[in-house]
Amino acid sequence: MNEPDAPTPTIVIFGASGDLTRRKLMPALYNLYCKGRIPASTRIVGFARSDYSHDAFRQEMRAGVKEHSDRYGEDDWAAFSRNLYYSPGNPNSVEDFRRLDALVAELEGERAAGRLYYLATPPQLYPAVATMLGQANMHGESEHWRRVVIEKPFGADLSSACELNEKVHAVFKERQVYRIDHYLGKETVQNVSVFRFANAIFEPIWSRNYVDCVQISVLETVTVGRRAGYYDQAGVLRDMFQNHLLQLLTLIAMEPPAALNAQALRNEKVKVLSAVRPIAPGRLREHAVQAQYRSYRDEPGVAPRSRTPTYAAVKLHIDNWRWQGVPFYLRSGKALAERKTRIAVQFKRPPHTLFALKPGEKLAPNILAMEIQPDESIYLTFQAKVPDVGIAMQNVNFNFHYASAFGGDAIPDAYERLLLDALHGDASLFTRSDEIELAWGLIDPIAAGLSDPDAPPLEFYEEGSAGPTGAQQLLARDGFEWVM
Ligand code: NDP
Ligand code: BG6
Repeated sequence: MNEPDAPTPTIVIFGASGDLTRRKLMPALYNLYCKGRIPASTRIVGFARSDYSHDAFRQEMRAGVKEHSDRYGEDDWAAFSRNLYYSPGNPNSVEDFRRLDALVAELEGERAAGRLYYLATPPQLYPAVATMLGQANMHGESEHWRRVVIEKPFGADLSSACELNEKVHAVFKERQVYRIDHYLGKETVQNVSVFRFANAIFEPIWSRNYVDCVQISVLETVTVGRRAGYYDQAGVLRDMFQNHLLQLLTLIAMEPPAALNAQALRNEKVKVLSAVRPIAPGRLREHAVQAQYRSYRDEPGVAPRSRTPTYAAVKLHIDNWRWQGVPFYLRSGKALAERKTRIAVQFKRPPHTLFALKPGEKLAPNILAMEIQPDESIYLTFQAKVPDVGIAMQNVNFNFHYASAFGGDAIPDAYERLLLDALHGDASLFTRSDEIELAWGLIDPIAAGLSDPDAPPLEFYEEGSAGPTGAQQLLARDGFEWVM
């Protein structure tokens, strides 16, 4: 842990009475405390309009942590919660921010270190909170660092994202801004770079010379539940593709960065996004599929004739030397039969087959699949000779499972890593302003184009099914099928 009188940072959470704080942020901070990863006396101050006392806030947070952390213990909670505080206030009131600032300063006393401001309010309030932090003079770094973490969604399209960047940059420098994409905090997503760049054998085959296609699937069983107010406006492209799927694509496709630091890493990701070929107007049918689960319009808050897609599949190309001609297929949907996030790299078949195949039969291609969740693993398929028969072949696997290699509970929640990195000032796993804007620039025309007359028709799929048939056809047209 830390010296009792050492300076310690303060985390201020805006929107602290909300679901994210209760379900994700507080359990993650508590786990970090229990593991000794943050100074034991790190102060956490909640800010929202709800009228809690410090104690009432602690009780609320206790319930959340009890439910969502498997490390919960009365003694640890008692020690951790001593450093939990609450300051009621309105995100639009500079007086309330000044009161908050005074409370934080009083708590810091002689032991002030940096401050992490976490914006967990509804997204339309992010500009107001950033502006108020500026007006209350809580952003300056003359003595200690100040950083701001901004939750997703960062904008609803390119112009609102640019506007939000402008508002935030009016108060904070880019190096102070940490935009969350929680997928980047997942261990298995961080492992993509380790897998690619800490092993010499994969990089030489990681290109158009050997790769036939790349598939990125983020399949969910959950429905939109109570989030219709947001989701019916956003749809799957803005909710999942603009951030999580494009981030996975950049990690798979980027060049090795010159160093493992935020600047170098994000420069490479930006180069990938800049090289993604925009889908030409009028060509959307060849490149995209949109669908909605059949009971979606019955969800509370969904417009009765909503045409918001809850599933999409998109084919993209990356115009650079490494990836020219290799299709990247991305798909994501809700209310599906299984929950699975997988990146599959499909390699080219041998150029000539020595072994007798039945008419029409082809050798199965080698597939390298990174199972991001829930069965965290990596496997590589290859052909093996079936014993005791002439030359018969079967597709078999090399397999690596996180649970068997590192133990069943080795994988922490993404928010633990992200909070820790933000406290340490490492922005590698956060998205930079140009990255966000490029991603919106790619998704905006696709999302908008889906309502054009020449767009792919909106399909409907059963809840608990494998999704729309159009997604199979998208790949079948190119001679591929989704890796199952
Ligand atoms: P909530 O909708 O629960 O809002 C958080 C808090 O903000 C509320 O408790 C409320 O506190 C305050 N608030 C709500 N509306 C207003 C308003 N009009 N004016 C002032 N304050 C308001 O959000 P979540 O906790 O679910 O999410 C927070 C942010 O994180 C959102 O931007 C969301 O998109 C993002 N996010 C959330 C995820 C989740 O799992 N929940 C996952 C990924 C991202 P009070 O009434 O006390 O002021
Ligand atoms: C969020 C989306 O960003 O990610 C949700 O808003 C989605 O719609 C969620 O369900 C998926 O995250 P995870 O970590 O459960 O795959």
